[in-house]
Amino acid sequence: MGQRKRYLFVCVNRRPPGTPKGSCATRGAEALHAALKAEVAARGLAKTEVRACTSSCLDVCWAGPVVHVSPDGTFYGRVQLADVPEICDALQKGTEVERLKLGPGEFDAETAGPQLPELPPEG
Ligand code: FES
Repeated sequence: MGQRKRYLFVCVNRRPPGTPKGSCATRGAEALHAALKAEVAARGLAKTEVRACTSSCLDVCWAGPVVHVSPDGTFYGRVQLADVPEICDALQKGTEVERLKLGPGEFDAETAGPQLPELPPEG
C-alpha cells in the first residue's frame, strides 16, 4: 500500500491508574484507536486516504485521549468514541473538528482544561 494523505497518531501510552497527569490508555485510547481504524476502513479510506496508527506519549497527557493528525499538525484532545464519526467526516471533507482541537494553553498542564476521568480497569 502506498503513502496515505493523512496519518492519525492515537496515543495509547499507559501509566498506572491514579498517576497525576494520567495517560491516554486509562481513558480509553486503545478502544478509540480500534474504532478509528474500523471507521476509516468502513468508509473506504484506509488504502489511500488515512491510516490510524498507535503512538507512544505525545506529551499532552492531561488532555488525553489525544490524536495527532499528520501532516496537518492538528492535535485533538479528550477524544471519545462518540467523536469518531465526526473526525472521519472532517477527514473526508478536508476540514477539522474545531471543538476537539487543542489550543496553545492545552500543551501546558498548568493552563490546560480539566482531565477526563479514567475508565475503570477491565477484568
Ligand atoms: S499519555 Fe497520551 S499524550 Fe502522554
